[in-house]
Formats: sequence, C-alpha cells, structure tokens
Amino acid sequence: MLGVLFSPEEFSKLKEQLVLYRCALNNMNTRVETLLEDFTHLQPYNPVEHVKSRVKSPESIAEKLHRRNFEITAANARTHLTDIAGIRCICSYAKDIFLMAEVIKRQPDIKILGEKDYLSEPKPSGYRSFHLIIEVPIYMTVTTEHLPVEVQLRTQAMDFWASLEHKVRYKYNNQMPDTLLRELKECAEKIAELDNRMYLIQEIADLTR
Ligand code: GTP
Ligand code: MG
Repeated sequence: MLGVLFSPEEFSKLKEQLVLYRCALNNMNTRVETLLEDFTHLQPYNPVEHVKSRVKSPESIAEKLHRRNFEITAANARTHLTDIAGIRCICSYAKDIFLMAEVIKRQPDIKILGEKDYLSEPKPSGYRSFHLIIEVPIYMTVTTEHLPVEVQLRTQAMDFWASLEHKVRYKYNNQMPDTLLRELKECAEKIAELDNRMYLIQEIADLTR
C-alpha cells in the first residue's frame, strides 16, 4: 500500500525466517486443536466457536517496521515484531475467553511474553479482545527455535465489530470522520452489552433446565 519494501537480499532472509513462523503457527494450531478435542469430547462443553490463523505478509511486515521507524530488515522483524504468526480463537462468551487464556498459559513449554486485556480495558476505538503474546519452541533438524505467536481471543460479536472497524479504517486510510468513530464506539459498547445479555440468557436456561 505504502510501497515500503524489503531489499532483495533482506527479502530472501525474511523468506527463510517465515518458514520458522509457519512452523510456530502450525505448532500453535495443533495445540488449539488438541484443546478443542478435549473440550468437545471430554469436558462439559467447548468454549470455542472457530479458529483462524495467518502469517503476516512481507508487505505488512515492512509497513509495520517502517511505521515504527525500524530499518526494513529480517533481523528487525524477528526482534521487534511479535505478531508475524497470529491465531484468533472466536469464543462463545466473554468468560470463555478467560478460560481459553488460562488453559493456553498453563502449558509448561509456552513462555508468556505479554498479555493485553482489552476486555477489561477496551481501546479508545472500542476494540475488545484478549491478546496473549506467547513463545513456542520449534524443534528443527539442528536447532531449537523460539518463535512468538500472537493469540487473539474474542467473541463472535467482537470479531464482527473488529472486522468492520478494520475495513472502515482501511477505506479512510486511518483518517475516519468523527461521526463514524463515535458510531463504531457506540456499536462496540452495545455489542458488549448484548454479549453479556446473551450470556445471562444462557445461564438462566442452564440453571432452570
Ligand atoms: P498493531 O501495530 O496494530 O499490531 O498494534 P500493536 O502492536 O501496538 O498492538 P495492539 O494490541 O494495539 O494490536 C494488536 C492487534 O490487535 C492489531 O494488529 C489488530 O489485529 C488488533 N487491534 C488492536 N486495536 C484494534 C482496533 O482498534 N481495531 C481493530 N479492528 N483491531 C485492533
Ligand atoms: Mg498487529
């Protein structure tokens, strides 16, 4: 979009590095699939509706490094970006988000690099989600690598909101008019309220059945 790019030399280094991020993402996807097998068949219920994952494109990596005033190199991407591998778990209710975060954090070979609770403290935009930045070990032929993965946990309604807001923000090239910003923020608040009301309906139905 902006035309900031990796040099040919750095691009070939990045491509090799992205192999590791794909492995890290596969690894995390497998861990989540395992949890879902357990939740679905061995636990009272499954808190996850569906899962999406992606490796960030070289263009987005370059753009983010540029935005943060780093030279566009593979080494800087490895050092400064923690969201090159990303996985998103869409949960049924807000409380399931915390349950998922707990079971992921419990895994002994996962290192927690950070967490951001945008449920308790939504972003000024109205964005709500829970983010875990973790590091998973990857066993290659010769070396063991530790790669960061960003795990985003949110409800379907929060995901719907985030996709729309992202699309709108992109269309306006990050310069959204105040009316739209306000409207989106209000929608985010209504969505949080609806999530909560639907959770309560489910609780009442569960208790009175
Ligand atoms: P980015 O440079 O956008 O990745 O932000 P960051 O590294 O400072 O971290 P932050 O926790 O703010 O955002 C991480 C990711 O969460 C983003 O890449 C988006 O996927 C998502 N996100 C954060 N804020 C918003 C928001 O206001 N709207 C939407 N749609 N997504 C957001
Ligand atoms: Mg990001």
